[in-house]
Amino acid sequence: MMNFVFPEHFLWGAASSGPQSEGSFQKPHASVMDYWFQTRPQDFYDGAGPDQASDFYHRYREDLRLMKECGFNSFRTSIQWTRLIQDLETGAPDPDGVSFYNRLIEEAQALGIQLILNLHHFDLPEVLLEQYGGWESRHVVDLYVRFARTAFTLFGNRVSRWTTFNEPMVIAEAGYLDGFHWPKYKNRGKAAVQVMYHMALASALAVKAFHELVPDGSIGIILNLTPAYPKDAQAEHLAAARFVEQFYNHFFLDAAVKGSFPKELLKELRRQSVLFTASDDDLAVVSENTVDFIGVNYYHPRRVQARTDSWQEAEWSPNAYFCDYEMPNRRINPYRGWEIYPQAIGDIADVIKNEYNNIPWYLSENGMGVEHEARFMNEAGVICDDYRIAFYEEHLAQLHQAIQNGAACFGFHAWTAVDCWSWNNAYKNRYGFIALDRSTGSRTIKQSGRWFRKLADTNTLTLEDITL
Ligand code: BG6
Repeated sequence: MMNFVFPEHFLWGAASSGPQSEGSFQKPHASVMDYWFQTRPQDFYDGAGPDQASDFYHRYREDLRLMKECGFNSFRTSIQWTRLIQDLETGAPDPDGVSFYNRLIEEAQALGIQLILNLHHFDLPEVLLEQYGGWESRHVVDLYVRFARTAFTLFGNRVSRWTTFNEPMVIAEAGYLDGFHWPKYKNRGKAAVQVMYHMALASALAVKAFHELVPDGSIGIILNLTPAYPKDAQAEHLAAARFVEQFYNHFFLDAAVKGSFPKELLKELRRQSVLFTASDDDLAVVSENTVDFIGVNYYHPRRVQARTDSWQEAEWSPNAYFCDYEMPNRRINPYRGWEIYPQAIGDIADVIKNEYNNIPWYLSENGMGVEHEARFMNEAGVICDDYRIAFYEEHLAQLHQAIQNGAACFGFHAWTAVDCWSWNNAYKNRYGFIALDRSTGSRTIKQSGRWFRKLADTNTLTLEDITL
């Protein structure tokens, strides 16, 4: 037996998001995700939408209690802009939204679960996309900051840890480059770069507002840091991986932690005439308002190679610089199609330590989505998800090793607590420690939830055997 003891006051819990858990009940506005589902329900597995999701809006008390039973000392969710704000131009709040988030905070506090509140999880109010072009618009940045100020003013006295965005890169990548999230544009590279810059600026402005309004709190940003590994050491593949790292990882990391953007990347964007438009005042805001910590979402690595064909699209796109490489013998989660490679956690930790001044961070999402989990149910009605436990054990062993090597990591959040809705895949792949029966709404803790309780209670991962 080997015992891996984690640092004192380590955060143990999971993440979810408003649009994936609450359901759209009582919201004054539709988000782009709500609108996408209303417009094209056929895009979603089994036609399931965010309108019901897991009904966290009504069942948050029960869900928080189950999280407590799974040993959580912390939980991240997001405040939906489309629920909290009634007047999107002024940032005036909606009374029902205020009441819901107040009740959620009170319940979490009563249970001793520390909430981390995120402000944006892919869920822009749809009307802002329609009227202004969404994140392409500088005005939308100001509206987001009004929303952020309202949230900090209302809840900052009771919630001390906040994050500005979840995976802003996905908004550009999925919505403007690869066409798998609304508005489903493909290879609109110039627009994607402007969208990225505006979100980096919006984050810095929210950090500025937070530090004024909640001086004792801390604020970060959640980034999907997906290491790009080249096919081999040939110069063309190394160059492809370097570009991917700069564009997909370091753009937001540099902006959030260093207050600047990767120089080599900016040079290339300028050369291609796709550099974002920015005022000097706004660039000064980015440079002066860096985050207190980062959240790292890690699921899978990216394996890349130089393009094997010539790029034919009329418009510039980062996709012109690389293509995916299918590494032989890679381990795959077949339900999601993602490679399983826990060792990447050590590589991410090294980058943060060596290039980002070892800023405090936590693993803010990690998990394994599996289809048809009911087939693993035992006679007592409990889903025996030992594959999920094995997945977490491997990733946690790597995280522990990284901490031993000096990483300033202060917590681990799984994705997710109660099985939740997902973009495209809806309820196809289940990730939770707590199973949701969609026909009855009932919730049952899985075997992994019991395992997590022991881990969190003892602050110790116990493994029979492991080779790192
Ligand atoms: C993360 C997102 O990228 O991955 C979550 O922050 C998402 O919103 C999770 O649900 C798992 O991905 P998916 O696509 O399988 O739901």
